Amino acid sequence: VTLGVDLGTSGVKAVALDAAGRVLADVTETYPLLTPRPGWTEQRPADWLAGTRAALSAIVARLREQDATPIALGLSGQMHGLVPLDAHGDVLRPALLWNDQRTGAQVEAIEARIPRADLVARTGNRAVTGFQLPKILWMKDEEPELYARLRHALIPKDYLGYVLTGVLAAEPSDASGVGALNLARQDWDTDILGELGIDPALFPPVVRSVEITGTLNAEWAAQTGLPAGLPVVAGGGDNAAAGIALGLTSARPDVGSLSLGTSGVVFSPLTTPTPDPEGRVHLFAHADGGYHLLGVTLSAAGSLEWLHHRLAPDVPLPTLLDEALAVPAGADGVSFLPYLSGERSPLMNPHARAAFTGLSLAHGRGHLVRAVLEGSVAALADAYAVMAPIAPLRSLLSTGGGARSEMWLGLASGALGLPVHPTSARPGAAHGAAILAMPAAGLHENLTAAIDATRPDALEAVPSVDMTAALGAYARTRDALYPPEV
Ligand code: XUL
Repeated sequence: VTLGVDLGTSGVKAVALDAAGRVLADVTETYPLLTPRPGWTEQRPADWLAGTRAALSAIVARLREQDATPIALGLSGQMHGLVPLDAHGDVLRPALLWNDQRTGAQVEAIEARIPRADLVARTGNRAVTGFQLPKILWMKDEEPELYARLRHALIPKDYLGYVLTGVLAAEPSDASGVGALNLARQDWDTDILGELGIDPALFPPVVRSVEITGTLNAEWAAQTGLPAGLPVVAGGGDNAAAGIALGLTSARPDVGSLSLGTSGVVFSPLTTPTPDPEGRVHLFAHADGGYHLLGVTLSAAGSLEWLHHRLAPDVPLPTLLDEALAVPAGADGVSFLPYLSGERSPLMNPHARAAFTGLSLAHGRGHLVRAVLEGSVAALADAYAVMAPIAPLRSLLSTGGGARSEMWLGLASGALGLPVHPTSARPGAAHGAAILAMPAAGLHENLTAAIDATRPDALEAVPSVDMTAALGAYARTRDALYPPEV
């Protein structure tokens, strides 16, 4: 069996898969998200390590019961974050995360030095507050003493790989989310880094996603019960790895995915690196050697969770969803812009803020919940409107926590105008990481064979809900508060 680890935002998930993709063990450990100031999000890398240690130990115990032996481990995780290390490999400060919005000034500085068209042509993306590159500049501007000691800038899962093996390595699917990877060369763009005064030596060498970067060290072997010397495979960013788990490859670019997690994501595989010239959606490397577009709304299930915790913490979420279901499509005129953490695609505005509109005395809690569900998929439809002219999809597979709500998927289907199919298993990024480790483990000849052997079946599409009224109300509020650039 191979193992996959997904270092997520709410927790770390470890899975063990056999060669056919069957799950032999599956463990999640949670850890806190720190929000030291509005717009800031951080995590302690030590919490990630403690969670990973516990998850892997539990996996080892379950595999022993089944007489199964892990032969390789693949990595995945939340994208874009900055784990800053000093010359000894020690963590300098808590990690800055993908949804952190503190780097507005640094994004402006990047845009002032490098024309947007040039940045998009080289990296596939414009400067984005959540990406790692502006976080490094933020440390330089705001924490100069720490910055002076900075020697390595790592993405979360690559930090975990470094701790497990002692080897510094990155791979293209996550590295392209830094904001400084030259997509055509699949290596760091020294022109961009030079222009910004950033030392390219901060970044680890980029290897292929399916490559073994190193082997598990004795300390982690002793702590988890895994075999010392276990090969560790580079893996992929969580969106690319989830794509692999769903069987989405650049060779079949008409099937994409919809993920309603903390962030909401539309993933669309691509054969050639074709960006949106304005950079309103992301273009990243896929873990299969191709590319993918990614439309991201920052608060999807995140908005629902916020509403649940702030408004009705004692009410079970299914009750709230039932109340929303009882409200007609369009929420009787209530609409919600889900910009609780600012917004990415297509607004790319860290200062955007959320709003409910259309409220009257007649509206109740169910309307608010319904509006949140509708607003988050309306935001995804805005992203897909930018993606479709580049790479039209024919259908979507669903993944992420929101995939459990058929109603929410039906709203997404109506908003995007695409059939949304649940899958037979509900594989996520950890499964993808385990699949990416299969070729190196010799379980399959190559990644294509591993993906073909593990691809879940697409089930019948969920019933699509007519979103015309909801999208109309949403667009009016959006355009009033955030007028389109002309
Ligand atoms: C993608 C993004 C998020 C994180 C979530 O650009 O920022 O989907 O990868 O972990």
